[in-house]
Amino acid sequence: MLESLELLAPDPILGLSAMFQEDERARKVDLGVGVFKDEDGRTPVLGAVKAAERALVEEEQSKAYIDPAGVAEFNSGLRTLLFGADSPAVAAGRVSMVQAPGGCGALRLAAELTRRARPDARVWVSDPTWANHIPLLGNAGLALETYPYYSAASKAVDFEAMLDRLGAVAAGDLILLHGCCHNPCGADLSAEQWRAVGELAEKRGAVPFIDIAYQGFGEGLEPDAYGVRLMTEMVPEVLVTSSCSKNFGLYRDRVGALAVVSANPDQSAAASSHALNLARGIYSMPPAHGAFVAGRIMSDPVLRAQWERELDGMCARINAMRALLGERLTAATGRDFSFITRERGMFSFLGLTPDQVLALRQQAGVYMVSSSRINVAGITPSNVDYVAAGVAAVLAD
Ligand code: LMR
Repeated sequence: MLESLELLAPDPILGLSAMFQEDERARKVDLGVGVFKDEDGRTPVLGAVKAAERALVEEEQSKAYIDPAGVAEFNSGLRTLLFGADSPAVAAGRVSMVQAPGGCGALRLAAELTRRARPDARVWVSDPTWANHIPLLGNAGLALETYPYYSAASKAVDFEAMLDRLGAVAAGDLILLHGCCHNPCGADLSAEQWRAVGELAEKRGAVPFIDIAYQGFGEGLEPDAYGVRLMTEMVPEVLVTSSCSKNFGLYRDRVGALAVVSANPDQSAAASSHALNLARGIYSMPPAHGAFVAGRIMSDPVLRAQWERELDGMCARINAMRALLGERLTAATGRDFSFITRERGMFSFLGLTPDQVLALRQQAGVYMVSSSRINVAGITPSNVDYVAAGVAAVLAD
């Protein structure tokens, strides 16, 4: 059987880490996979996470299965984080939460649920979008369409083109939107643009499908949920996939959730029963550890305050590196890189061709995705000039 399988190329994002590790040069810089890094290039465990873990290890009495819907404290904490403390939809019993193995697990569950509810639905994804959106949704059997999003010329959202293309959305189609900190381009919708997308979805009977993997890395925990909350006000059905990989630093613990906003409590209960049934047929139930940790942090006032401080610190470091990198690239190349400071989250495009990205890796050991997406968190005051000089060199070639 297996002889029919040919060796695949490594994953375009995750494969970069292995390549970077194998690079024996003393001078190298990893701007590949989207994980937060501190000034020493480390991805630390947050202090709030360590404190919650210590308490949980002491308290834990059993490793018996958890509820298939996940850890209750986590689901309710995350629901408030996403929809707000006074959400009318939550109060009306229209929002069901299903904990999932990371944001990826939640995305796949959302795709399977859509396929079961409406097999002919198309999912409209931004061009560009996070590379893994395509297999996560497409492998569930959903048809994908794209809409233009980022203009490489203006280094901003091309909203006119986006709205124009979304005019072709049919009733029951889903529009995949990045809640904040767009991956890969870092350019987000403004409040007015969110409203215009909501009006379009409402008019056409489309379902906003919001993937929010960086809440707290843009303008802050509350403002970053703006799109989720507005869509929930404007249209009867919304799918939201959330990840705690980045904002809690729980990457390997696989913590995330699917939130399904339905038109009424009966549909909410039905949708949730199908999501659980689908999960049972794929991975049975989500892992418990990370959700216990995140749930405890969200509900304990002391840990919560510590976590918010640490999250603000990560965000401030990235924004400081955006300013520094924008300035140093502009100085080194004579081109305008100030757009980097206007973008949010971990990522920005440098605007290099795949050949230039390859040359930068070969010449200077600077690693990034071939689209020239960089993880800004990989920049430090001690490597920024080296990166800027490397970029200048490949642009001059
Ligand atoms: C990224 O975009 O680099 C991260 O979200 C990691 C991943 O799974 O691709």
